[in-house]
Amino acid sequence: MKTDTTILAIESSCDDTSAAVIRDGILLSNVTASQKVHEEYGGVVPELASRAHQQNIVPVVDTALKRAGIGREDLSAIAFTRGPGLLGSLLVGTSFAKGLALSLHIPLVDVNHLQGHVLAHFVEPSAELKAATPSMANVEIKHPTLPFLCLLVSGGNSQIVLVEENRIDGATKHLPKMTILGQTIDDAAGEAFDKCAKVLGLPYPGGPHIDRLAKLGNPDAYPLAKPNIAGYDYSFSGLKTSFLYTLRDLMREHGVSDIDSLAAAIPNLREDLCASLQTTVIDILMKKLKKAANDLHIASVAVAGGVSANSGLRQAFIDFGKRYRKQVFIPPFSFTTDNAAMIAAAGYFKYLDGEFCPLEEVPFAKTKI
Ligand code: KG4
Repeated sequence: MKTDTTILAIESSCDDTSAAVIRDGILLSNVTASQKVHEEYGGVVPELASRAHQQNIVPVVDTALKRAGIGREDLSAIAFTRGPGLLGSLLVGTSFAKGLALSLHIPLVDVNHLQGHVLAHFVEPSAELKAATPSMANVEIKHPTLPFLCLLVSGGNSQIVLVEENRIDGATKHLPKMTILGQTIDDAAGEAFDKCAKVLGLPYPGGPHIDRLAKLGNPDAYPLAKPNIAGYDYSFSGLKTSFLYTLRDLMREHGVSDIDSLAAAIPNLREDLCASLQTTVIDILMKKLKKAANDLHIASVAVAGGVSANSGLRQAFIDFGKRYRKQVFIPPFSFTTDNAAMIAAAGYFKYLDGEFCPLEEVPFAKTKI
């Protein structure tokens, strides 16, 4: 008889196939296969992503179970990302999860990908996993106390989420209540990084390349437009246009028509443009977060999603905490981009709350948190 709660979690919303095992709230394994096939296209190709998930899912799940030291018969439930994301990709993870749950006669737990990103802050890796994972080895993992604000910044989303106690009918749920206070009205921050990187001739995904080059550049070299949007909402489309126009004007000035010729004419061009772009994105993100934290008198702020891997943003969070005496929570690198550990954390909370997913449920491409 199973005496503990052991959950296998599966994430397949975009171009990472990931599986994780969590036992009684402790993460035992987290395995991710990233898809390189999209690099040559400068963005994720949905059809290729689904095919790669199909190839990866069995070995990834197998490895996650082996690393956790458990067999399928030890599982209490299967958690999976139901959406939002690419439908073809989600279908692979969802179908696999359903088939496995059905064959093992155990429940399914569906997880919202965005809630997963926020709940990455509650992942508690085992001592063995921490020691074996370089990005976690010497990192003190702190979990935020409720309520807190989470800046959720990824390739598809930029949101400020209020995370607070979830009391229903007098009982406190394990899964916190999450309310979107503001979000992008057009592009996401990660998308702005990726699109601007593309015009600079940098590989996909561009965010990490912008981050790397920004460290060598002058953030004041090229002033870029900042949006003027009410409330806590974001906008990044104007910044993208401003970046493009800056390049266009520089090309006209130097009588060239491609980025490589321009880079040959202007020393440190890419580095300075990356630094200017990165500092502007961070300014935009932090300004609204600061406003929300002040207006709501919230003492703790966290960052989540792929863009939270950005070194400038991570430093901006540390500075923000020191300057405004806020507690800041920055996840280890392994839990920033898409991963099943965060789905496992969310799935575990939902399991404890008794929230299971019927087999007839289908994935969804778009949703709010
Ligand atoms: O959360 P994620 O893995 O996937 C989505 O759910 O969207 O986020 C991917 C995004 C991409 O836009 C990528 O360029 C960005 O995260 N990203 C970064 C960095 N690492 C990944 N952006 C800026 N700096 C980074 N170091």
